[in-house]
Amino acid sequence: MQRPLRVGIAGLGTVGTSVIKLLDRQAEALANRTGRELVVTAVSARTRAKERGIDLSRFTWFDDPLELARSDSIDVFVELIGGAEGAALATVEQALAASKSVVTANKALLARHGMRLAALAEEKNLALAFEASVAGGIPIVKTLREGLAGNSIERVYGILNGTCNYILSRMELEGLSFETCLSEAQKLGYAEADPTFDIGGFDTAHKLAILATLAFGTAIDPESVSVEGIESISLDDLRAAEELGYRVKLLGVTQRSAEGIEQRVHPSMVPKTSAIAQIMGVTNAVTIDADAVHELTLAGPGAGGEATASAIVADIADIARGVRSAPFGLPVASLANPPRPPLRLHQGGYYIRLSVQDRPGAVAAIAKRMAEREISLESIVQRQRPGMQPSGAVPVILVTYATHEQTVREVLEAVIKDGFLADKPQLIRIERE
Ligand code: HSE
Repeated sequence: MQRPLRVGIAGLGTVGTSVIKLLDRQAEALANRTGRELVVTAVSARTRAKERGIDLSRFTWFDDPLELARSDSIDVFVELIGGAEGAALATVEQALAASKSVVTANKALLARHGMRLAALAEEKNLALAFEASVAGGIPIVKTLREGLAGNSIERVYGILNGTCNYILSRMELEGLSFETCLSEAQKLGYAEADPTFDIGGFDTAHKLAILATLAFGTAIDPESVSVEGIESISLDDLRAAEELGYRVKLLGVTQRSAEGIEQRVHPSMVPKTSAIAQIMGVTNAVTIDADAVHELTLAGPGAGGEATASAIVADIADIARGVRSAPFGLPVASLANPPRPPLRLHQGGYYIRLSVQDRPGAVAAIAKRMAEREISLESIVQRQRPGMQPSGAVPVILVTYATHEQTVREVLEAVIKDGFLADKPQLIRIERE
């Protein structure tokens, strides 16, 4: 058996302590599988005294994570500090400079600095491993990078944020308000420290930028991800979706289109029969459309100590075996830079909920605006729901066949100018299977 692989962990929150416990619990199996013992030798965290349910006396303690990152007492540095800049970035740079392989769960760090860090790792033939950064316990990085190497991928879409899916699921199933569901998600520890990152779609955008790179061999480009969160989704939308045969999910979607590689995060209507629509609560799921496998969906826990630790331990095991994949599947210099078209160039179906003044000719005028721009309607529903609308207005719901987003936006502007609407229109993109 080779000498033990010495692991240093910076950050001992839920995930860090779970990594230590999992390495302890699976010590024998991991040694058998990798041919080496995987031993945590050193740790660093903000406070040593905190009760974590593990005995820290067996590890060398570092107050300064930078010292741990460059310490001769470790071979692998596990970054669980969090944040795109500051100590997380500095320690990862330091560890790579000191010729240590790095494992991280930090999606924001990778989205922002992944290309440069991957180049540093590549120069020294070190690993920069990040399975835990996207969809927690789901091995989506390995699936895209290694498992589907023989496929040409067309689209990857998924539920990448447990907090949003938890909120939308509880609103839909229990009729609860957005605020109640968010505060429960925070109590349960699913949400980021600043929940705007979750509900505004930014956490999903970081994860999607990583998936797009793995799926299409493109440079990471988080700036060109179009991002809309779930703040505007109402119980009315969830009920209408149900009646029309859809569910509303916050999706991250990246796909090839005639214009380039789309990267978009927004609430989406998905057919109720689709695999992704079945995913409720904090669970994550990713669907991949590819030529050889056609459609593949992976679902599982996207957050939480044990699930995230599972991904981190798998990365450490790969390093122990000597596996050195290019972090993003290709050498950094070979990653392409195709256009990332803006959302207005997206083509798809749309759900449009209008609050229309109850006057003769109103719906006819809206239908005329649609017809003028050759938008074909799959359905149109007008329903009086007392108490749901500002007085004198009725909800009108339109579902379009595939059309350009720019056209839909222009039609809605024209409809607003016609003066029949009592409120801002709601627009939700439909994501077909
Ligand atoms: N806040 C994230 C979520 C945690 O809700 O999915 C995992 O990145």
